[in-house]
Amino acid sequence: MKCVFITLLLLICVLGADVGEAEVVCPQSCFCTAGVVDCSGRGLTTTTMPSSFPLSTTEIQLHDNHLTALPPGLLDDLQALQLVTLHGNPWACDCAVLYLRGWLLKQKNDALIRNVSCAFPPDLQGRLVAYLSEEEVLNSCNYWLCNLALFSQISLFAFIVVQASLLAAVVYFLRRFSQLSIDAQRAAAESFHS
Ligand SMILES: *[C@@H]1O[C@H](CO)[C@@H](O)[C@H](O)[C@H]1NC(C)=O
Repeated sequence: MKCVFITLLLLICVLGADVGEAEVVCPQSCFCTAGVVDCSGRGLTTTTMPSSFPLSTTEIQLHDNHLTALPPGLLDDLQALQLVTLHGNPWACDCAVLYLRGWLLKQKNDALIRNVSCAFPPDLQGRLVAYLSEEEVLNSCNYWLCNLALFSQISLFAFIVVQASLLAAVVYFLRRFSQLSIDAQRAAAESFHS
């Protein structure tokens, strides 16, 4: 009962935190002035970067970080956005690059497009993200999906092995326990008779 209560409380906390995040203020670890959100040179990674920006943002500076991908949809709601600086990041040109590539293709800023190039994988290193062919991106997706499928199969197998060993342990201890109680009963009966 107590456990259920704590779980509920945690759930409320998590949901509450989400609602709070939707109220867009200057993202933590960035510096904001009059529509410009400066998140440059802060060692941000794709997981530690801001998940949203104020709706009135006109410029976002994300250059010179450790970003490998942009989360899908990140820039879609920002109607006033005019410039995003993205250079100086090790962009990974795998399946996750699709959003960034699509977004770049919609920009009419040549300097921006020329500033965003692949750092991985080795065979695409130095290529401009916007000019990757669809085939090149999709190839990496297939590779990625294969790995995902393999990983989930291996996880499933490991899971089954763990479950089977737990079950075996339970059966073993139950048997031992019943043997112990039979022995104890017998011992009790013997001591009663003698
Ligand atoms: C492109 O990169 C250079 C530095 O390499 C930077 O000075 C310039 O502002 C960048 N331009 C855009 C549009 O990102």
